[in-house]
Amino acid sequence: MMQKSELKTPYFMIDETKLIHNLEIARKLKELSGVKLVLALKCFSTWGVFDIIKPYLDGTTSSGPFEVQLGHETFGGETHAYSVGYSEEDVKAVADLCNKMIFNSQHQLATYRHLVEGKASLGLRLNPGVSYAGQDLANPARQYSRLGVQASQIDAAVFDTIDGVMFHMNCENKDVDAFIRLLDNISANFGAYLNQLEWVSLGGGVFFTWPGYDIEKLGAALKQFSEKHGVQLYLEPGEAIITQTTDLVVTVVDIVENEMKTAIVDSATEAHRLDTLIYNEPASIAEADEQGSYEYVIGSCSCLAGDQFCTARFRQPLKHGQRLHILDSAGYTMVKLNWFNGLRMPSVYCRRSNGEIQQLNEFDYSDFKRSLSQWSVC
Ligand SMILES: Cc1ncc(COP(=O)(O)O)c(C=O)c1O
Repeated sequence: MMQKSELKTPYFMIDETKLIHNLEIARKLKELSGVKLVLALKCFSTWGVFDIIKPYLDGTTSSGPFEVQLGHETFGGETHAYSVGYSEEDVKAVADLCNKMIFNSQHQLATYRHLVEGKASLGLRLNPGVSYAGQDLANPARQYSRLGVQASQIDAAVFDTIDGVMFHMNCENKDVDAFIRLLDNISANFGAYLNQLEWVSLGGGVFFTWPGYDIEKLGAALKQFSEKHGVQLYLEPGEAIITQTTDLVVTVVDIVENEMKTAIVDSATEAHRLDTLIYNEPASIAEADEQGSYEYVIGSCSCLAGDQFCTARFRQPLKHGQRLHILDSAGYTMVKLNWFNGLRMPSVYCRRSNGEIQQLNEFDYSDFKRSLSQWSVC
């Protein structure tokens, strides 16, 4: 059996037991509400663990053509296809693979509907104009948003020609009452349209697996909404499914000092944990202890001056060669890996519930080289 100490860093370790903990909550939400859940592949698409997830969820949703193909091939169940902007080629490629095709604008719907009719259920993304999101960058209702049709621009006749709509207006929303307020707003402003439809997707960003989240209250609100409007409801969870399941394991390769000590590790946020940088949200380290007397910047080994995972305190001084576990590193990480600086790409492992460690992926120099060019000019 593979031992953790033998694995070469950097690597991601997905923990099956923790994943199943989240999935059991998802199952309960489905039972309470009748909602269907489709995994948002944009957040997590490490298909090597889909056999663990499949029994709990209804399918996948996507944000680009290759995600549709991946969902269809590796997950099955319902395959929802959405894109902010489809080309004709994309629509042709995915129409045979998906069950639901959701367009972002009335123009795209009108242009491509003939390619989808008879193959998949047709949907349109609406922008409710309200949202719950901590940062403007991730706020679908931000000024000049291009995400979905604005209420003032809706042509009411469209609802006679589609089967469903999608709203996505939450980002890491841990407040059930705030979500219910959004639901009430949608019911009040779009209810007459929804009554004509078969299905409504409420998108992702509802953090129902967060400790203490009132799942009964959420379930009751969703059930009431779907009964009131006579629709099958969907949620598109990504982060809620994969949260707190995965460590990024790194090794301290150097310790430097410039007023503060920086432990440099064999990974970088810019290449392996991009959202740390984009959203300026420091990572957490399993070995850290707020009461500890030894403070370090956990610095990346990329060339970007500000590239660091976090600042953390430890009970003992860090040592060269020591391993650190960067917590909660599954969502929006493996899907965004890149080869910046030619760093070693983290391998991906899964620790099964019986303790066995299985490898899902590994990368080497040939993957790096191929990602840059396959042919040279002649
Ligand atoms: C349309 C849509 N659905 C689902 C999701 C998944 O959100 P989360 O991972 O926060 O649950 C997103 C995230 O951006 C989204 O844009």
